[in-house]
Amino acid sequence: MDLFFSDFAANLGGPKNPLYLLHDRLKTEGRRVVDLVRGNVNEHGIVYPPDILAGILKEAAAAARIYRPDSLGQLPAREAIARYYAGLDISAGHVLLTPGTSVSYWYCFKLLAENGDEILCPQPSYPLFDYIARLAGLNMTHYRLDESRNWAIDLDHLESQITAGTRAIILISPHNPTGMVADDEQLRGLADIARRHALPIISDEVFSEFLLDLEAFPRIASTNAPLVFTLNGFSKMFALPGIKIGWMAISGDEHLVKKSVAALDLISDTFLPVNEIAQFAVAEIFTQGKLFLDEYRNYINRCRSEALAALQGLSFSPPRGGFYITLRTDRDEEQLAAALLERDGILVHPGYFYDIAPDHLVTTFIDEPGLVGEHFEKISRQLR
Ligand SMILES: Cc1ncc(COP(=O)(O)O)c(C=O)c1O
Repeated sequence: MDLFFSDFAANLGGPKNPLYLLHDRLKTEGRRVVDLVRGNVNEHGIVYPPDILAGILKEAAAAARIYRPDSLGQLPAREAIARYYAGLDISAGHVLLTPGTSVSYWYCFKLLAENGDEILCPQPSYPLFDYIARLAGLNMTHYRLDESRNWAIDLDHLESQITAGTRAIILISPHNPTGMVADDEQLRGLADIARRHALPIISDEVFSEFLLDLEAFPRIASTNAPLVFTLNGFSKMFALPGIKIGWMAISGDEHLVKKSVAALDLISDTFLPVNEIAQFAVAEIFTQGKLFLDEYRNYINRCRSEALAALQGLSFSPPRGGFYITLRTDRDEEQLAAALLERDGILVHPGYFYDIAPDHLVTTFIDEPGLVGEHFEKISRQLR
């Protein structure tokens, strides 16, 4: 029987990418493949200390025993998040808990745009936003990150991409997959554009705890941008993707913040989607996770140093934050990714997966320290 499905459901799938066909063949032949794509630290033993987490969750379950939902999220959790942004003008009343950054994007899209409207996002881009925008009935438009300036935001290009249908600008800093971290000057420029065109900024900061050689992290929320949604969560910050805790912190002109919070409160009330036990665990996960976060950062720094040492002499923009590196090559990127997989058993992505002009490779440096250097020696050999 045939029945009606949405365009999205009707047009699922499509042929599998040749790189993944090769990947599947190697796996059926029993070859070991090193995945330098996923960047999942849990797979390498980086986990929030289980004993501490068990204690926190036990207390949280007791606190959550009687269901008294708060559509913005339980107050102790929002207070802890507001403390995390100490120095910025963010109070607990301007924080909304969500089940993750991806859902925060969805809420922002539903708050700010109507079907067919445009959201301006960086190019290169992490494919997630395209899917979320499509599900929300929106179109993605793109502004350039300039590789010749360490992938800095091309503010002139950004402004030229704004149309009458643009409803928000996405900022991703640290950026996935280039590792760019926007500096204060760029953020001030972006804030001026946002004010000139009366546009909100959705600021994705999920990698903000993982910076290289930066004393302080520049935040768009400390500029004069009219309305900012700062997105983050425990997925990357505490290596706890499964706990499904994310949030948005809303800042900017008072009347815009107030209007946003009121609407988000209602959107969230419609679903009440965040696990209550997880909500009551938020404050203690922050407090008791400090030592772990230091160790976790050291681990990331060791991995990154090994990767960068092996890539020395090659021309590329070293990442300033996050878990990924984007490398340039003179060879065809698809052939090179296939050669790395077939010869060296290393899975990396060609740049076009991220909307990067040819020819680039995108790779994470997350693996066991000690092995990262070996993998990147192999990548480096192929690139030279
Ligand atoms: C830049 C960026 N934003 C958001 C996400 C998704 O975050 P969450 O797991 O909180 O939904 C990812 C996941 O890798 C990401 O790379």
